[in-house]
Amino acid sequence: MPHLTINGGHRLNGAVSLQGAKNSTLPILAATLVCGDESIIHNCPNITDVDASLDILRSLGCKCTFCDNTVTVDSATAHRYSICDSLMSEMRSSVIFLGALLAVNSRAELCAPGGCELGLRPINLHIDAFRRMGARIVEEHGRLICIADGGLRGCVIDLPVASVGATENIMIAATTAVGDTVIRNAAKEPEICDLADYLRKCGAKISGDGGAVITVSGVKKLRGCEHYVIPDRIVAATYLSAVSVCGGDVYIDGANEAHLVSVLPCFEQMGCEVTSDDGGIRIVSKCRPERIGTVRTAEYPGFPTDAQPVLLAAASVADGTSIFVENIFSNRFRYVSELGKMGARISVVDRVAVVDGVRMLTSANVTATDLRGGAAMVIAALGADGTSTVSSIAHIERGYEDIARSFRALGADIERES
Ligand code: EPU
Repeated sequence: MPHLTINGGHRLNGAVSLQGAKNSTLPILAATLVCGDESIIHNCPNITDVDASLDILRSLGCKCTFCDNTVTVDSATAHRYSICDSLMSEMRSSVIFLGALLAVNSRAELCAPGGCELGLRPINLHIDAFRRMGARIVEEHGRLICIADGGLRGCVIDLPVASVGATENIMIAATTAVGDTVIRNAAKEPEICDLADYLRKCGAKISGDGGAVITVSGVKKLRGCEHYVIPDRIVAATYLSAVSVCGGDVYIDGANEAHLVSVLPCFEQMGCEVTSDDGGIRIVSKCRPERIGTVRTAEYPGFPTDAQPVLLAAASVADGTSIFVENIFSNRFRYVSELGKMGARISVVDRVAVVDGVRMLTSANVTATDLRGGAAMVIAALGADGTSTVSSIAHIERGYEDIARSFRALGADIERES
């Protein structure tokens, strides 16, 4: 099975070019279905979740190409409204196709995504919203049958949780609904604004994105457009964490300081020098990280849950005790037991992890339990004494474009072996 072999202890130096955001690319690709036309999406990361999205689009009848980080989707030929279970199960976020299918066909059939490695991930908010917009939704043999006779209708939707996926799904579905849709307690993540920017270029009427109330006024038809995906703030946080552990001087080309307001202060607190300019972010780390204090994950602009594992890996070698409180997902500390194999001293009770930093981690054979937990393993191994292996890297490859090559270019000793 493919795995990473990492010989730790090398400082990281140089510049790395930041990939486009996975969590922007995936909803934008789903939204291309609604255009009925050609969209050209630049800066798409070459990751398996993008491959899975393109497989779904092709299965629905779209013509797709992917070359040099540019995806072209022509949805003029899309004619199906059903996604088979095997394609749905490749990616939890495939539920994002539900809104797009309802917008195009007034009909959708797909399986409900089950739980995942982060704990229960229900889709009740998505379903409730589409019902309010006039869809009839029933579950038959594990498949959701959704029909909106006469098309979706705009309405006011109060989200009890500022769900990223539900906000995106509703936004996409509402673009061609009859009348106005108002999403209250909408998610504010930069990826929401990126999706809104893409949809606006396609002719959608959307306002308020980035704030708590988003209004979408339905239009008859969208058209295709050309769009450039924003940089991946979680991958940026991964590089920042790696440098804080390994030491060094790295420029993250393309990183956007504004997307990382709650993340960058953590690295300053650890004693790193962090500076930004229009083109990216530079981090310099000269000594063992200081303790971070308490990090609480929260909706944007709070500290992102997706950056919790990589920062925790850095805290595991910090001088002193740091505390992590996970407020978004019920089970996002599974990777911690793998860090323990490398000598990390971490105790987890429910949603709180207490990390007693050790001077250095030791090499071990560890497993990636999930995407960001896997990235945490890579960081720990890059800073550890000796040679480690990280297995189950399919999780990592869902979201990181050739992580071995990126870190090798910065001076790390890391190989992907098949
Ligand atoms: N929730 C519900 N019901 C729903 C939807 C969500 O109870 O119908 C709950 C979830 O169980 C969770 C909370 O609401 O406790 C927030 O979930 P959200 O819907 O915001 O998450 P998501 O849309 O499923 C996206 C990202 C995740 C990221 C979260 C939170 C994509 C493709 N995925 O997931 O990214 O962690 O938002 O920011 O955008 C990752 O990239 O590693 C990743 C997991």
